[in-house]
Amino acid sequence: MKDRQPVYVRGLGAYLPEKILTNADLEKIVDTSDEWITSRTGIKERRIAADDQYTSDLSAEAAKRALADGGLAAGDVDAIIVATVTPDMPFPSTAAFVQKKIGAHTCPCMGIEAGCSGVPYGCELASALLRQGPYRNILAISADKLTAITDWQDRLTCVLFGDGAAAFLLTCDAEGARGEILDIYIANDSSGVDALYLPGGGSRAPATEETVRNRLHFLKMNGQEVYKEAVKSMGQAVATILERNNLVPDQIKFFSPHQANLRIIDAMARQINVPLERFLTVLQWTGNNSSPSVGIALDDAVRAGRLQHGDLVVLVSFGAGLTSGTVLLRWIG
Ligand code: ACO
Repeated sequence: MKDRQPVYVRGLGAYLPEKILTNADLEKIVDTSDEWITSRTGIKERRIAADDQYTSDLSAEAAKRALADGGLAAGDVDAIIVATVTPDMPFPSTAAFVQKKIGAHTCPCMGIEAGCSGVPYGCELASALLRQGPYRNILAISADKLTAITDWQDRLTCVLFGDGAAAFLLTCDAEGARGEILDIYIANDSSGVDALYLPGGGSRAPATEETVRNRLHFLKMNGQEVYKEAVKSMGQAVATILERNNLVPDQIKFFSPHQANLRIIDAMARQINVPLERFLTVLQWTGNNSSPSVGIALDDAVRAGRLQHGDLVVLVSFGAGLTSGTVLLRWIG
């Protein structure tokens, strides 16, 4: 906020795996159709990580791109944060694997579990660390290999998800900045904690033959509740950040919403009375890749030259927890 030390985006990077899974491919796996998936979600295809490509690999690729974008080297990184619900393994942290893969020095590495709200949560933690010091450059990465926890026998969920990563290289130095973070809002409404979860593999249901047989190691979702809550909480999160910065939706050039479902985005756009064209969407070809999705949509717009100096952008996320969050960003160039 205005009376706090500013935090800047020095570099931005996104990564999507090469392999494409189309709706036609899914028709061969489960009882579904391109028409059903497109009309209910807007998704036409999604990217799938290779078997030997883990969340840390996706993260490292996005991180390298953010470093190149910001003109810094891995040795300049003072802390690495990875927000994910699909870590390489329960421990050590995925960030530790990223440190090794990008060749950073022995900086602190940590993780965040915020479902699809990894970008606002990661940016909030990184901003707090930067303001506190002595950190200068922090990689706030959001990455998921959701297809590793997708039940390919469950047609309600398997048509939705894909894999990917986004990295924000954040700093307190104004020099060379591509964007300025003006404000961040994050929240969690635990009344919806049972709407989206992975029951198996934690301390509550450690892996046994039975948990595997009962398919407890796959994501479970109450689709209609998630849909309803997504529209409500993302609408509230946008209203909160606009109100406390004395802004109205017309002053925002683009909204970068969680890429879950085109119908959710459309409902949100109508709720705040903003034309759908001002909502960045990539889900048609990425699917819902969870935590990085708002960063991937932002990166896509930046690479396409759609942002001009001074434009205001609101990233808005929603995910398991149920988390929600927004980042208000002023694009510098
Ligand atoms: N293909 C064809 N038919 C299907 C499929 C499919 N893939 N999946 C379900 N159906 C059928 C159902 O069996 C049901 O059939 P019935 O009427 O004969 O019983 C019918 O389609 C309607 O099912 P609903 O569950 O009512 O479908 P709905 O309209 O709610 O759409 C959807 C389902 C797309 C999942 C929707 O609820 C939704 O988008 N929810 C939000 C999900 C989401 O965004 N999750 C991720 C957010 S958080 C995160 O990113 C991790």
